[in-house]
Parts: sequence; structure tokens; C-alpha cells
Amino acid sequence: MQFPTTRMRRLRKTPQIRKILSETKLNPENFIYPMFIKENLKDGQKEHIDTMPGQYRYSLNDAVDEAKRLENLGLSSVLIFGMPENKDEEGSSAWDKKGIVQNTVRRLKEETDLVVITDVCLCQYTSHGHCGIIKDEKIINDETLECLSKIALSHAEAGADIVAPSDMMDGRIDAIRVDLDLNGYDDTIIMSYAAKYASAFYAPFREAVCSAPCFGDRKTYQMNPPNINEALKEAELDIIEGADILMVKPAIAYLDVIKAIKEEFKVPIAAYQVSGEYSMIKAGINAGYLTEDVIYESLISIKRAGADLIISHFAPEFLKHNMFEY
Ligand code: PBG
Ligand code: ZN
Repeated sequence: MQFPTTRMRRLRKTPQIRKILSETKLNPENFIYPMFIKENLKDGQKEHIDTMPGQYRYSLNDAVDEAKRLENLGLSSVLIFGMPENKDEEGSSAWDKKGIVQNTVRRLKEETDLVVITDVCLCQYTSHGHCGIIKDEKIINDETLECLSKIALSHAEAGADIVAPSDMMDGRIDAIRVDLDLNGYDDTIIMSYAAKYASAFYAPFREAVCSAPCFGDRKTYQMNPPNINEALKEAELDIIEGADILMVKPAIAYLDVIKAIKEEFKVPIAAYQVSGEYSMIKAGINAGYLTEDVIYESLISIKRAGADLIISHFAPEFLKHNMFEY
């Protein structure tokens, strides 16, 4: 059948018809909200992150209050990033049982029903800002694994539902799984940043949490943007090592990667709409060049590509304004 019998516009005729025929839908449960918690920040003095308009660094108490407010709006999960008072060569404050992330997790698990996810990495905690241990200006893979395991275990002990290693060292999922299991945390979920690219879209985040590397870049551990076969290999290895959920990061510039991994492996996939994606859209809206509809459009594209979960700074805005339809 073809034109004039077939008319595609018939199914676009009214908002109601378009609505019932939407192939993809965003639900509140799809969203994970990243939060930045700064150790020793005074309550009531949340700091605006200038590179990410509308996002803040919170004190522990303020973060818990904000999380409760968002839970009431329908948020289901948060991803916790800590900003420690003290940094050193090894990033040892990252596995402190009384560290900022560990304290935040305990409070959130006591006072909310949110799914609490923690970022497991060293870069906010090391004086050099790299995601691993350094010797002679090189990031040493295998020694870093011990640190990552200690961090993940301390998060699990604090009550984290999901630990999310973002370092991109080889073998970290296996190392973390083994240590969690040995210590009785066999039901702590691992969400691996499986395909994490060395992306310039992370710049606002590094400014936000002071984690920029003080020399070199992250290209010897994060992935090279032209590659997709490598992403499939990373995903496969992480599944073999015991990852429960795989993540692709960034999202919008890597929709093909989300789709390829989802098609190849039937496991839950998360996609991270990173700081630069958020700030770029915000800047366009604030300048009046774009309307807020681009927020929905960017998020639905991530879902359409195959992501089950979307980590996004737009989560609060999205829930508050009920942006579930176009
Ligand atoms: C590092 C880390 C990064 C992000 C989260 N954890 C990127 C990086 O500095 O390489 C980026 C998040 C964002 O841009 O929103 N472990
Ligand atoms: Zn890192």
C-alpha cells in the first residue's frame, strides 16, 4: 500500500493520538540524580556550581533534605559523589568509614527509601586528580584495584545498594566483586561504567568537584571516542567479571554505543547524560536560543537508544514539571 491510501500523517493528527502511539516513554523510575556532597560545608550554604547552572554542592544535612524533597517529587535513585576535606597521593579518604560518602549513604538509607548508588573512584580524593595510583607519572592498574575494592567495600558497609566504579582500570569489577563477596556483601549490586569515553564533555563536572588531573589526561584509561567494538569488548568483560548493570558515558554523543550494547547483551543498561551535555543545553535555554523542550528530546533519545536508566542533572526539573510528554 502506498500514497494516497497510506498516509503517515493520519497517526499524527491530534495530541491524543500521538500520545497513545508513542513508542517510547520516560518514567520517573528511569531517573538517577547525581548529587555532590561536600565535607564540612556549612548547612544552609549550598554552593552554586557556575559551570552547571542550577546545580549545587551540598552539605551532608542539606543533601539529605534535598534528597527527601526529590523523593517526594517521585525520584527513585541518587548517585552520590563526595568532595573530601583532605586529599593525598593515594586518595585514602575515599575508603574512610567516616568519609563524606559513607556518612551520606548511612543517612540516606536511614531516612529515605531511595536506591542509593555511589560513585567509586579516586580522582576527587587524590592530590594529583587521577583515577588511579601513580608511579613515575604512570597510572598503575593493579595496585589501584586494591584501593577501589576498599572504597566499594566501605560504601557497601555504609549501606549502598549499588556501587558504581568509574575509574576504567582493567579487572576492577572482578576485584570489587571478590572483595564484596568475601565480606558478606554478595547482594550489593555493581553498576560498571563499562564504556566510559575520554570525553571533553566532563569539563564542568571536574570544575564542580575539583577533580581535574594536575598533569596529563585520562586517555590511557578512558576509551577513545572513535571506538565501538572496544565498547562491546569492555561490556563483555565487565559482565564476565560480575557487573549487574552496565553504563555508557557520555550519552548523547554515544547513542550508537548504548544501542549496540543493549542489542548484544540482555542486561540493564544505564546511560550518563554528563555535565557538559547538561550545561550545553542549559546554556542554550538560558541564552534564549533553545526552548526547554530540548530537555525532553535529549532524554527520550537516550531511552529510545536502549537505556533502561538515565543518570541526569535534569531529573529534578523533569519530575517537578512533569515533562513526561512532548
Ligand atoms: C571520574 C568521573 C568523571 C565523571 C564522573 N566521575 C569524569 C572524569 O573526570 O573523567 C563525569 C561526570 C560528568 O561529567 O557529569 N571518575
Ligand atoms: Zn575518577
